[in-house]
Amino acid sequence: MAIIKVVFGSVNGNAQQLAEDAVEQLKAAGHQAELLRHPEVAQLAGDCSEALLVITSTTGQGDIPPNLLPLYEQLNDQFPLMPEKPYGVVALGDSSYEDFAEAGRSFDFLLKDLKARRVIPTLFIDACETLDPEEEVAQWLDQWQALLD
Ligand SMILES: Cc1cc2nc3c(=O)[nH]c(=O)nc-3n(C[C@H](O)[C@H](O)[C@H](O)COP(=O)(O)O)c2cc1C
Repeated sequence: MAIIKVVFGSVNGNAQQLAEDAVEQLKAAGHQAELLRHPEVAQLAGDCSEALLVITSTTGQGDIPPNLLPLYEQLNDQFPLMPEKPYGVVALGDSSYEDFAEAGRSFDFLLKDLKARRVIPTLFIDACETLDPEEEVAQWLDQWQALLD
C-alpha cells in the first residue's frame, strides 16, 4: 500500500477526468490516493516515501495549464530536492501542435532534476491518435502502481 498524491493540469477537463478516475483506480488497488486540486509544494516535498502522479494536458504553445502552473513555478523556484520520491507522468497533448505534450515533459524534467525517481516511462496520450485514453491510462496505471512500495 502506497500513499499517492495526484495532481492534474487541465483546461477543458480531459486530464481532470483522467486524474479523478486514476484516484478511484488507485484506491481500488488498495492505495491511499488523494487528488490535490490546489497543490502546494509543502504537500509534495515533505515525505519522499509518498508517490506523486502528474496528469497534465498541454495548452497554448507547449504551456502548462494555468491551474497547474503555480505548482510548477513554486517547485522550480524553491527547488526542494525529493530524493527517490516515486513519480509518474501522464502527458496529454495533440501531435498536430509543434510542442507535443510539452507540459508533461516539463514536469518530468523538473522532477528528475529534483532527484525524484520516475517509476516507469511517461505515458503520452495523443488526441490525434488515442481513441480510448481512459483504457490506456488504466493499463499504464496498473503497471505504475504495482511498482510502488
Ligand atoms: C488552445 C489549445 C492549445 C493547445 N496546445 C497544445 C500544445 O502546444 N501541445 C500539445 O501537445 N497539445 C496542445 N493542445 C491539445 C491539448 O493538450 C489536448 O487536447 C488535451 O487533450 C486537452 O486536455 P484538457 O481538456 O485536460 O486540457 C492544445 C489544445 C488547445 C485547445
